[in-house]
Amino acid sequence: MSAPNDKPSRATWLQGPSARCETVPKGAFLPWRIILLGAPGVGKGTQADLLNQRLLACHLSTGDVFRAAATRCDDEQTPAMKEALAHMRRGELVPDTTVWDMVRERGECLHCAGGFILDGFPRTLSQAISLKQFMDKEGLGLTAVVSYELPASEIVARLGGRRTCDKCKAVYHVTERTPKVEGKCDRCDGKLFHREDDRPESIKVRLETYERSTAPLIEFYRKAGLLLQVSAAGTPEEIYDRTLPELESRRLSLFAERMWASEENRRDT
Ligand code: AP5
Repeated sequence: MSAPNDKPSRATWLQGPSARCETVPKGAFLPWRIILLGAPGVGKGTQADLLNQRLLACHLSTGDVFRAAATRCDDEQTPAMKEALAHMRRGELVPDTTVWDMVRERGECLHCAGGFILDGFPRTLSQAISLKQFMDKEGLGLTAVVSYELPASEIVARLGGRRTCDKCKAVYHVTERTPKVEGKCDRCDGKLFHREDDRPESIKVRLETYERSTAPLIEFYRKAGLLLQVSAAGTPEEIYDRTLPELESRRLSLFAERMWASEENRRDT
Protein backbone atom coordinates (compact mmCIF):
# COMPACT_ATOMS: atom_id res chain seq x y z
CA MET A 1 0.00 0.00 0.00
CA SER A 2 1.44 3.39 -0.87
CA ALA A 3 0.94 6.74 0.85
CA PRO A 4 -1.58 9.20 -0.60
CA ASN A 5 -0.62 12.38 -2.46
CA ASP A 6 -0.82 16.16 -1.99
CA LYS A 7 0.09 17.40 1.45
CA PRO A 8 -0.34 21.16 2.06
CA SER A 9 2.90 23.05 2.81
CA ARG A 10 1.90 24.06 6.39
CA ALA A 11 4.58 26.77 6.16
CA THR A 12 3.26 28.92 9.02
CA TRP A 13 3.09 25.93 11.35
CA LEU A 14 6.44 24.37 10.40
CA GLN A 15 8.55 27.53 10.02
CA GLY A 16 6.80 30.01 12.33
CA PRO A 17 4.45 33.00 11.98
CA SER A 18 6.67 34.92 9.53
CA ALA A 19 6.17 32.18 6.89
CA ARG A 20 2.99 32.18 4.79
CA CYS A 21 1.06 29.07 3.75
CA GLU A 22 0.70 28.73 -0.03
CA THR A 23 -3.07 28.35 0.20
CA VAL A 24 -5.47 29.07 3.02
CA PRO A 25 -8.73 27.11 2.90
CA LYS A 26 -12.03 28.96 2.59
CA GLY A 27 -13.95 29.45 5.85
CA ALA A 28 -16.52 26.84 6.84
CA PHE A 29 -19.59 27.43 9.03
CA LEU A 30 -18.18 25.00 11.61
CA PRO A 31 -14.45 24.39 10.95
CA TRP A 32 -13.16 21.01 12.13
CA ARG A 33 -11.03 21.48 15.26
CA ILE A 34 -9.78 18.07 16.30
CA ILE A 35 -7.16 16.69 18.69
CA LEU A 36 -5.66 13.23 18.09
CA LEU A 37 -4.50 11.40 21.22
CA GLY A 38 -2.72 8.06 21.41
CA ALA A 39 0.60 6.43 22.22
CA PRO A 40 3.67 7.15 20.04
CA GLY A 41 3.43 5.06 16.88
CA VAL A 42 -0.27 4.25 17.18
CA GLY A 43 -0.77 5.98 13.81
CA LYS A 44 -1.90 9.53 14.67
CA GLY A 45 0.17 11.14 11.90
CA THR A 46 -1.10 8.62 9.35
CA GLN A 47 -4.72 9.26 10.33
CA ALA A 48 -4.18 13.04 10.42
CA ASP A 49 -2.99 12.80 6.83
CA LEU A 50 -6.05 10.80 5.70
CA LEU A 51 -8.43 13.07 7.61
CA ASN A 52 -6.77 16.17 6.16
CA GLN A 53 -7.50 14.96 2.63
CA ARG A 54 -11.19 14.57 3.43
CA LEU A 55 -11.86 17.39 5.92
CA LEU A 56 -9.22 19.86 4.62
CA ALA A 57 -8.39 20.84 8.23
CA CYS A 58 -4.64 21.41 8.54
CA HIS A 59 -2.42 18.73 10.14
CA LEU A 60 -0.57 20.45 13.00
CA SER A 61 2.06 18.17 14.55
CA THR A 62 4.36 19.56 17.27
CA GLY A 63 6.85 16.75 16.56
CA ASP A 64 7.08 17.95 12.92
CA VAL A 65 7.92 21.49 14.12
CA PHE A 66 10.79 20.16 16.26
CA ARG A 67 12.07 17.96 13.42
CA ALA A 68 11.90 20.93 11.02
CA ALA A 69 13.94 22.99 13.53
CA ALA A 70 16.50 20.17 13.77
CA THR A 71 17.32 20.57 10.06
CA ARG A 72 18.28 24.27 10.50
CA CYS A 73 21.92 25.20 11.04
CA ASP A 74 23.25 25.49 14.58
CA ASP A 75 23.28 29.32 14.84
CA GLU A 76 19.63 29.52 13.70
CA GLN A 77 18.50 27.43 16.68
CA THR A 78 17.60 29.20 19.93
CA PRO A 79 18.98 27.74 23.21
CA ALA A 80 15.42 26.62 24.10
CA MET A 81 15.15 24.78 20.77
CA LYS A 82 18.55 23.09 21.25
CA GLU A 83 17.41 21.89 24.66
CA ALA A 84 14.08 20.72 23.19
CA LEU A 85 15.87 18.66 20.52
CA ALA A 86 18.09 17.00 23.13
CA HIS A 87 14.97 15.92 25.08
CA MET A 88 13.39 14.64 21.89
CA ARG A 89 16.39 12.50 20.91
CA ARG A 90 16.24 10.75 24.30
CA GLY A 91 12.49 10.10 23.82
CA GLU A 92 11.56 12.45 26.67
CA LEU A 93 8.93 15.18 26.54
CA VAL A 94 10.05 18.71 25.73
CA PRO A 95 9.36 21.06 28.70
CA ASP A 96 5.81 22.45 28.76
CA THR A 97 6.87 26.12 28.60
CA THR A 98 8.93 25.57 25.42
CA VAL A 99 6.10 23.66 23.74
CA TRP A 100 3.42 26.15 24.74
CA ASP A 101 5.54 29.16 23.64
CA MET A 102 5.94 27.48 20.26
CA VAL A 103 2.21 26.72 19.88
CA ARG A 104 1.11 30.17 21.13
CA GLU A 105 3.47 31.78 18.62
CA ARG A 106 1.54 29.83 15.95
CA GLY A 107 -1.88 30.82 17.38
CA GLU A 108 -2.88 31.98 13.88
CA CYS A 109 -2.96 28.29 12.84
CA LEU A 110 -5.55 27.57 15.53
CA HIS A 111 -7.67 30.33 13.97
CA CYS A 112 -7.28 28.91 10.44
CA ALA A 113 -10.58 29.12 8.57
CA GLY A 114 -10.14 25.51 7.41
CA GLY A 115 -9.79 24.24 10.99
CA PHE A 116 -7.03 22.02 12.38
CA ILE A 117 -6.05 18.49 13.40
CA LEU A 118 -3.64 18.69 16.34
CA ASP A 119 -1.29 15.69 16.52
CA GLY A 120 1.10 15.33 19.48
CA PHE A 121 -0.29 18.34 21.35
CA PRO A 122 -1.46 18.61 24.06
CA ARG A 123 0.57 15.90 25.75
CA THR A 124 0.35 16.90 29.43
CA LEU A 125 -2.40 18.26 31.64
CA SER A 126 -0.62 21.61 31.82
CA GLN A 127 -0.57 21.84 27.98
CA ALA A 128 -4.26 20.87 27.80
CA ILE A 129 -5.17 23.61 30.29
CA SER A 130 -3.09 26.24 28.41
CA LEU A 131 -4.82 25.26 25.16
CA LYS A 132 -8.27 25.38 26.73
CA GLN A 133 -7.64 28.84 28.24
CA PHE A 134 -6.35 30.13 24.90
CA MET A 135 -9.28 28.69 22.91
CA ASP A 136 -11.88 29.92 25.40
CA LYS A 137 -10.36 33.42 25.29
CA GLU A 138 -10.32 33.42 21.48
CA GLY A 139 -13.86 32.00 21.20
CA LEU A 140 -12.68 28.80 19.49
CA GLY A 141 -14.45 25.53 20.24
CA LEU A 142 -13.12 21.97 19.79
CA THR A 143 -15.13 19.57 17.64
CA ALA A 144 -13.78 16.37 19.21
CA VAL A 145 -10.77 14.58 20.72
CA VAL A 146 -10.07 11.19 19.13
CA SER A 147 -8.15 8.72 21.28
CA TYR A 148 -6.57 5.84 19.32
CA GLU A 149 -5.93 2.58 21.18
CA LEU A 150 -3.64 -0.36 20.34
CA PRO A 151 -1.61 -2.97 22.31
CA ALA A 152 2.03 -1.96 22.96
CA SER A 153 3.53 -4.89 20.96
CA GLU A 154 1.85 -3.70 17.74
CA ILE A 155 2.94 -0.12 18.42
CA VAL A 156 6.61 -1.16 18.68
CA ALA A 157 6.37 -2.96 15.29
CA ARG A 158 4.88 0.16 13.67
CA LEU A 159 7.63 2.42 15.05
CA GLY A 160 10.48 0.05 14.15
CA GLY A 161 9.50 0.08 10.45
CA ARG A 162 8.61 3.75 10.10
CA ARG A 163 10.33 5.93 7.49
CA THR A 164 9.67 9.69 7.21
CA CYS A 165 10.23 12.10 4.32
CA ASP A 166 12.89 14.72 5.14
CA LYS A 167 11.05 17.36 3.08
CA CYS A 168 7.25 17.06 3.35
CA LYS A 169 7.22 14.80 6.49
CA ALA A 170 4.98 12.16 4.85
CA VAL A 171 5.09 8.89 6.79
CA TYR A 172 5.75 5.40 5.34
CA HIS A 173 6.39 1.91 6.72
CA VAL A 174 8.85 -0.64 5.36
CA THR A 175 6.17 -3.33 4.99
CA GLU A 176 2.76 -1.72 5.65
CA ARG A 177 2.94 1.56 3.75
CA THR A 178 5.74 1.37 1.23
CA PRO A 179 6.87 4.10 -1.17
CA LYS A 180 6.81 3.39 -4.93
CA VAL A 181 10.62 3.79 -5.10
CA GLU A 182 12.58 2.54 -2.10
CA GLY A 183 13.98 5.38 0.04
CA LYS A 184 12.11 8.12 -1.90
CA CYS A 185 8.94 10.02 -1.08
CA ASP A 186 6.08 9.49 -3.56
CA ARG A 187 4.92 13.08 -3.14
CA CYS A 188 8.01 15.27 -3.35
CA ASP A 189 10.93 12.94 -4.16
CA GLY A 190 12.41 13.75 -0.72
CA LYS A 191 14.70 11.26 1.05
CA LEU A 192 13.14 8.86 3.55
CA PHE A 193 14.90 8.59 6.92
CA HIS A 194 14.63 6.52 10.09
CA ARG A 195 13.78 8.87 12.98
CA GLU A 196 16.43 9.11 15.72
CA ASP A 197 13.79 8.61 18.42
CA ASP A 198 12.63 5.35 16.77
CA ARG A 199 15.62 3.49 18.29
CA PRO A 200 14.52 0.77 20.81
CA GLU A 201 15.86 2.63 23.89
CA SER A 202 13.98 5.86 22.95
CA ILE A 203 10.80 3.94 22.07
CA LYS A 204 10.76 2.45 25.59
CA VAL A 205 11.10 5.92 27.20
CA ARG A 206 8.39 7.36 24.92
CA LEU A 207 5.87 4.62 25.75
CA GLU A 208 6.50 5.00 29.51
CA THR A 209 6.20 8.78 29.24
CA TYR A 210 2.92 8.43 27.35
CA GLU A 211 1.40 6.28 30.11
CA ARG A 212 2.56 8.68 32.83
CA SER A 213 1.94 12.10 31.27
CA THR A 214 -0.43 11.83 28.31
CA ALA A 215 -2.85 8.97 29.11
CA PRO A 216 -4.48 11.09 31.91
CA LEU A 217 -5.72 13.46 29.17
CA ILE A 218 -8.20 10.76 28.11
CA GLU A 219 -10.11 11.35 31.36
CA PHE A 220 -9.72 15.14 31.04
CA TYR A 221 -11.43 15.14 27.63
CA ARG A 222 -13.98 12.48 28.60
CA LYS A 223 -15.15 14.78 31.42
CA ALA A 224 -15.33 17.66 28.91
CA GLY A 225 -17.70 15.53 26.78
CA LEU A 226 -15.31 15.65 23.79
CA LEU A 227 -13.76 12.15 23.77
CA LEU A 228 -14.20 9.63 20.94
CA GLN A 229 -12.36 6.32 21.56
CA VAL A 230 -11.38 4.47 18.38
CA SER A 231 -9.52 1.17 17.98
CA ALA A 232 -6.28 1.59 15.99
CA ALA A 233 -6.19 -2.08 14.93
CA GLY A 234 -6.25 -2.95 11.23
CA THR A 235 -5.14 -1.04 8.15
CA PRO A 236 -4.95 2.79 8.10
CA GLU A 237 -8.02 2.85 5.83
CA GLU A 238 -10.02 0.64 8.23
CA ILE A 239 -9.15 2.94 11.15
CA TYR A 240 -10.06 5.98 9.06
CA ASP A 241 -13.41 4.35 8.16
CA ARG A 242 -14.10 3.91 11.87
CA THR A 243 -13.07 7.48 12.72
CA LEU A 244 -14.91 9.48 10.09
CA PRO A 245 -18.52 8.50 10.97
CA GLU A 246 -17.81 9.22 14.66
CA LEU A 247 -16.51 12.68 13.77
CA GLU A 248 -19.35 13.41 11.37
CA SER A 249 -21.97 12.44 13.92
CA ARG A 250 -20.29 14.67 16.53
CA ARG A 251 -20.23 17.57 14.11
CA LEU A 252 -23.90 17.06 13.23
CA SER A 253 -24.80 17.36 16.95
CA LEU A 254 -22.72 20.55 17.23
CA PHE A 255 -24.41 21.91 14.12
CA ALA A 256 -27.87 21.18 15.57
CA GLU A 257 -26.89 22.82 18.88
CA ARG A 258 -25.62 25.90 17.04
CA MET A 259 -28.81 26.17 14.94
CA TRP A 260 -30.97 25.71 18.01
CA ALA A 261 -29.08 28.46 19.90
CA SER A 262 -29.39 30.92 17.00
CA GLU A 263 -33.11 30.16 16.70
CA GLU A 264 -33.54 30.84 20.45
CA ASN A 265 -31.63 34.13 20.09
CA ARG A 266 -33.80 35.15 17.16
CA ARG A 267 -36.99 34.46 19.17
CA ASP A 268 -35.66 36.41 22.20
CA THR A 269 -34.87 39.56 20.17
P1 AP5 B 1 5.75 13.19 17.74
O1 AP5 B 1 6.32 13.46 16.42
O2 AP5 B 1 4.44 13.76 18.12
O3 AP5 B 1 5.77 11.63 17.92
P2 AP5 B 1 4.79 10.65 18.70
O4 AP5 B 1 3.61 11.15 19.42
O5 AP5 B 1 5.76 9.89 19.49
O6 AP5 B 1 4.04 9.97 17.61
P3 AP5 B 1 4.69 9.40 16.41
O7 AP5 B 1 4.90 10.43 15.35
O8 AP5 B 1 5.89 8.60 16.82
O9 AP5 B 1 3.61 8.31 15.95
P4 AP5 B 1 2.20 8.46 15.27
O10 AP5 B 1 1.14 8.05 16.26
O11 AP5 B 1 2.03 9.76 14.58
O12 AP5 B 1 2.33 7.26 14.23
P5 AP5 B 1 2.57 7.30 12.65
O13 AP5 B 1 1.35 7.71 11.93
O14 AP5 B 1 3.85 7.98 12.34
O15 AP5 B 1 6.77 13.64 18.90
C1 AP5 B 1 8.13 13.30 18.87
C2 AP5 B 1 8.82 13.91 20.09
O16 AP5 B 1 8.70 15.35 20.05
C3 AP5 B 1 8.26 13.50 21.46
O17 AP5 B 1 8.80 12.28 21.90
C4 AP5 B 1 8.72 14.69 22.30
O18 AP5 B 1 10.09 14.61 22.63
C5 AP5 B 1 8.56 15.88 21.37
N1 AP5 B 1 7.21 16.48 21.49
C6 AP5 B 1 6.30 16.63 20.47
N2 AP5 B 1 5.18 17.21 20.93
C7 AP5 B 1 5.38 17.45 22.25
C8 AP5 B 1 4.56 18.02 23.27
N3 AP5 B 1 3.32 18.44 23.00
N4 AP5 B 1 5.07 18.10 24.51
C9 AP5 B 1 6.31 17.67 24.81
N5 AP5 B 1 7.14 17.12 23.88
C10 AP5 B 1 6.67 17.00 22.62
O19 AP5 B 1 2.72 5.71 12.40
C11 AP5 B 1 3.85 4.99 12.90
C12 AP5 B 1 4.28 3.94 11.85
O20 AP5 B 1 3.24 2.95 11.72
C13 AP5 B 1 4.49 4.50 10.44
O21 AP5 B 1 5.54 3.83 9.81
C14 AP5 B 1 3.17 4.20 9.71
O22 AP5 B 1 3.35 4.05 8.31
C15 AP5 B 1 2.76 2.90 10.36
N6 AP5 B 1 1.32 2.75 10.48
C16 AP5 B 1 0.41 3.72 10.75
N7 AP5 B 1 -0.83 3.19 10.82
C17 AP5 B 1 -0.67 1.85 10.59
C18 AP5 B 1 -1.59 0.74 10.54
N8 AP5 B 1 -2.90 0.92 10.73
N9 AP5 B 1 -1.10 -0.50 10.30
C19 AP5 B 1 0.25 -0.68 10.12
N10 AP5 B 1 1.16 0.32 10.14
C20 AP5 B 1 0.69 1.56 10.37
